[in-house]
Formats: sequence, C-alpha cells, structure tokens
Amino acid sequence: MSLETILHSALDAITKAENLQALDEVRVTYFGKKGQISGLMAELGKLDPDARKARGAEINKVRTAVMSALEAKKNALEEAELNRQLMTETVDVTQAGRNSDVGTLHPITRTMMRIHEFFASVGFDIVEGPEIESDFYNFEALNIPEHHPARAMFDTFYFDEHMLLRTHTSNTQIHVMQEEKPPIQMIGYGRVYRSDSDVTHSPMFHQVEGLVVNKNVTFANLKGILTEFMQQFFEKDLKLRFRPSFFPFTEPSAEVDIECVICSGDGCRVCKNTGWLEVLGCGMVHPNVLKSVNIDPEEFQGYAFGMGVERLAMLRYSVNDLRLFYENDMNFLTQFR
Ligand code: FA5
Ligand code: MG
Repeated sequence: MSLETILHSALDAITKAENLQALDEVRVTYFGKKGQISGLMAELGKLDPDARKARGAEINKVRTAVMSALEAKKNALEEAELNRQLMTETVDVTQAGRNSDVGTLHPITRTMMRIHEFFASVGFDIVEGPEIESDFYNFEALNIPEHHPARAMFDTFYFDEHMLLRTHTSNTQIHVMQEEKPPIQMIGYGRVYRSDSDVTHSPMFHQVEGLVVNKNVTFANLKGILTEFMQQFFEKDLKLRFRPSFFPFTEPSAEVDIECVICSGDGCRVCKNTGWLEVLGCGMVHPNVLKSVNIDPEEFQGYAFGMGVERLAMLRYSVNDLRLFYENDMNFLTQFR
C-alpha cells in the first residue's frame, strides 16, 4: 500500500470516528503493535542506508500528520462530550440543600458536666486521675493489700503483676492526698474499667469521686452533700436510701440506691426486681488510708464517695439499658439534643 493511500485512509477513519472509543480503535489500527504505520517503520531496517534515510523521512511525515489529526479529533470529541453534559445535566439551584447534622455532646459528657457544675459551685476542686494505674494506687494504698478478698469485688484488667486499668476513681484520692495537705475538697472523675457487662454494667464506665478531708468531718456532712446533690441533679424528689455496705477504704461504709425510675419501684429488669438502683458507694475514709499518705487520723477525718455516671444518666433520662450509651446509634443519641 502506498504511503499516500495509508495517509488518506487514516485521515478518513479519523474524521468518521464518532466517539473516543472508535477513535482509539483507529489509533491501534495505525500505531498499534501490528499497526500499518508501525509496520512501515519496522520494514525500514531492510533497506540500505541511503534509501532508508529518504523513506524514513517520508514515513515520518505521514506519521506526524496522522498523529496530529488523532490528537485534534480527540480534543474535539472530549469537548463535545463536556458540552453534552453541560447541556443535559443541569443543577437546580433553587432546590433546598440537604441538612447537615449538628453535633451534640454525648449524654454521658453532659451528665458529667452537670455533676461537676454542682460540686464546683459548693467549692470542690476538679481533677482527672490516671486510667493506667499501679496496684499501689488502685488497691494497696486504699487498704486492700495483696490477697485481700475485696480484690474480687473488682473484676480487674491487669497488664502485668503491677500495672492495671483502674477499676474505680478512688485511686485519685491517693494522688491528691500525696500532693496536698488538708483541708482537701476534691472531685476526681473519668473512665474506669471492669470485666463486666449487662443492662446496668459495662466494661468501661465513668465515675465521679468525691473526697473531703478536714477537722471534724462527719457522716452527717456526707449524707447532707449527697442528698443535696441528688435533689439538684434529678430536679425532683426521688426516693433515696443509704444502705450499709463494705469498702476496705471506708469505715463505716454505705451504698446509695435510688428508686428505679423505669418501673417507679415496682420491679423490672433494670432494678432486677428490687425497685432500687445502686448509684454510688461512700463512707468515712478509713484511718489506714490516711496513714498511707501520712495524714494523722487523730487530727483529721474524711468522707469519700464514688458514683456511677452512667447509672445517674440512666435514671435521669429513663434509659433502660446502660449499653445503649456506647452503641453509637444516632436514633438514640439525637434524643439528647
Ligand atoms: C466503688 O467503685 C468504690 N470505689 C466507691 C467508693 C468511693 C466507696 C469512695 C467509698 C468511698 P462500686 O464498685 O460499688 O464502688 O462502684 C461505684 C458505682 O459505680 C456503683 O454504685 C455503680 O453506680 C457504678 N458501677 C459499678 N460497676 C459498674 C459497671 N460495670 N458499669 C456501670 N456502672 C458501674
Ligand atoms: Mg457497689
């Protein structure tokens, strides 16, 4: 086939190509591995040097012409495609936009802030203790020596023999008493961990710890502040009871239960048919704890309490399964806007 014929048939095919795919097929026909122009180039090797030079120049002319025609057609097709899109795909600028959701604070965060507000208003300092803790602060200094049966009360996650995830915020009591001398009036808060899970227990939950150490501190002071707090927190008169209990780090000790708001005390799966839900543990700081931080128990007394933030949130918002707080279900969470 003469160069002239190849040139004309190529240009003709390019003109006729109606879309990018057809155009690419043309490109392959001429420049592909077995393409007609590629074939001409390959044959050049068989010619002697002078003839090769002349023939090479001629082929090159054809090659350049076809290539620029391809390029021009490609640009034209692309532009046509863009114009077609602009003509057919319209944007309706009058249509209302899609709503984007406004974020909100998590109900547990809000509950925590509400607790802080109350205690800050009556003069407590607020501190956040460490979550990764040594055996000393979580147990030992709190009058729970190694092998003490009370360790079984806390289903502890251990890292190794000495380090653990704190099982309660009571570790903060020790940190604060090591650093400050009485009078002390503090709130410690944050995440705590236990191997525990059901409608009222989760493996990670939050506590708020209170500690007051001063001269002449009594159980009546403790009862007074907690009763006042509960009334403000719930904004109504919920039934509340102080039930004698045991903690190695307090003596005497009590736990506070609140009338189950889910069943109004009739008994349900949340309160395990008791009509009550435990929200906190408390008591008078044990003399051994004061001694472990070099505070003289003859001179100073203290009271302490540790409350479950999720439990308080459950009761305030009538949530019947504590695990709902951690399932990231938007239908649940957006109710707390
Ligand atoms: C304690 O953790 C003591 N440190 C409390 C304390 C502090 C007593 C200071 C005396 C002085 P207890 O294990 O009972 O106690 O937990 C306290 C509260 O945390 C419970 O009343 C409950 O409201 C909450 N709680 C306990 N375990 C869980 C859990 N797995 N999930 C959610 N809340 C929990
Ligand atoms: Mg308890």
